Amino acid sequence: MAQLQVKKRRPHRAEPARPANSEYQVRFPEVVLGLVEKRMGTSRKMFLTSLACSRGFCVDDPCSEKVTHVVSEGNSGDEVVEWLKKNGRPPTQAVGDGPALLDLSWFTESMGTGRPVKIEPRHRLRVTAPAEPLEEKGQVPPYICQRRTPLLHLNSTLTDALETMAEEAKFCGSEVRSLAFSRAASVLKSLPWRVNRVQQLHTVPCIGEHSRRIIQEVLEDGTSAELDKVRQSERYRTMKLFTKIFGVGVRRASQWYQEGLRTLADLQLHQIKLNKEQQAGLLHYEDLNTPVELWQAEAISQVVRNTVEQILPGATVTLTGGFRRGKPCGHDVDLLITHPSEGQEVGLLCKVISVLDSQGFLLYHSVHRNSFLSLEDQELRVSASAGTMDRFERCLSIFHLGDPAGSNQGGPGAQKLGSSAVSGASSLWKAVRVDLVVTPYSQYAFALLGWTGSRNFERDLRRFSKHEKKMSLNNHGLYHLEQKIFLPAASEEEIFQHLGLAYILPEERNA
Ligand code: UTP
Ligand code: MG
Repeated sequence: MAQLQVKKRRPHRAEPARPANSEYQVRFPEVVLGLVEKRMGTSRKMFLTSLACSRGFCVDDPCSEKVTHVVSEGNSGDEVVEWLKKNGRPPTQAVGDGPALLDLSWFTESMGTGRPVKIEPRHRLRVTAPAEPLEEKGQVPPYICQRRTPLLHLNSTLTDALETMAEEAKFCGSEVRSLAFSRAASVLKSLPWRVNRVQQLHTVPCIGEHSRRIIQEVLEDGTSAELDKVRQSERYRTMKLFTKIFGVGVRRASQWYQEGLRTLADLQLHQIKLNKEQQAGLLHYEDLNTPVELWQAEAISQVVRNTVEQILPGATVTLTGGFRRGKPCGHDVDLLITHPSEGQEVGLLCKVISVLDSQGFLLYHSVHRNSFLSLEDQELRVSASAGTMDRFERCLSIFHLGDPAGSNQGGPGAQKLGSSAVSGASSLWKAVRVDLVVTPYSQYAFALLGWTGSRNFERDLRRFSKHEKKMSLNNHGLYHLEQKIFLPAASEEEIFQHLGLAYILPEERNA
């Protein structure tokens, strides 16, 4: 009983489907065809129906539950699913349930051979899985500082891919593109569910077209051609190699690449002029690019703490950066120094450095004076446009981890500190990047928030402050741009309160 016209929401008949013309015998009772009229048109559908019946096939309304093979011409799988739904076919539980959705090629081949041919993948119409109902998963807020981003998350394959793309964009000097990839990676890190299909990201913010494309390719093929090309490119690899030298930024690395340099040895071969920082960076390249473990960071913190307390009792040393966010290892050690009596901290850093240096702990150091007080304009002092660099007094150093007296500071015979080494082993050592930052007590909470990171988290916190609250936030303070007042805070919690944000623990700022 062929249905030559599809009637919407027609009740399904109980009668088994049979060839339209009773003069034809049913030869394949297990196969019931349904022809989708959309794009096929009524007259062609009638013609094909007659043809199928003449070959002994049953044909029925494609929306009937009896139909086992839905045949369509010129429609995508998704379009067919949508059309069936609109025309009253009950939805299936999952992709793959229900009738086979087939291209006309299967029909033509079957008519040609006079029997239903085996369904090959090429006959099937591709259907994308429906997006999972996001309502159940909750909406994702647009700013990173409104989200909780744990260290361990469920989408690391995707975030690794996006972060590589972000790095590559940065190497090309495209900050905007780099930021777009970083934001997409950040939002995926905050999702408490694994992304399996790109459609699930329908209402997730911060995922642009390009990121979406990379995500889709990685999900469907396990990798992305564009990503593979980046990873294999000579420029990307060389830029990565050079920017991992302490003191070398994207501009310098790019210049060396343009000049034809490709390896660290090339720098020496071509007698490239390096500043002191870069020389130290090159000398300790391997160590500085071996992750610093938590126990190593704590050991260094303790050495600094002992020295600080010896010089200024009551002063505190706090391990910040990635370690405060719960990371088990990092690329450096970020230490924040303060004293509860404001003003006591002035002059402290020089003395601390002098002691550490005399004990052989500093393989390299450079000191930057506090330039905050020299800014006369109030608003400039809290200008968010200053980026992440703040104006605290600080020392950028390469620290000698291990007893300096027990080694020859990196000479040819010196034993190196392996990851399995026990803390305190006197004959082993490792060069570690350490930042010492001194902050007045009244600015400590802001400095702690800023130095805890992550960089993405901090960037969005500032963006949120400015655009949503008309406030300017940096590592020194929070300023209300309309009321023209500073909003003091003694803790990170108070800063979140000023901004009307729920408090996010350091461990949840791993954006
Ligand atoms: P890091 O570069 O050390 O990042 O800066 P990290 O998160 O600790 O990463 P690993 O674990 O070392 O690899 C730490 C934080 O300090 C801030 C950055 O924004 C970052 O969030 N920072 C850095 C400043 O606020 N000012 C600066 O001048 C430098
Ligand atoms: Mg760090």
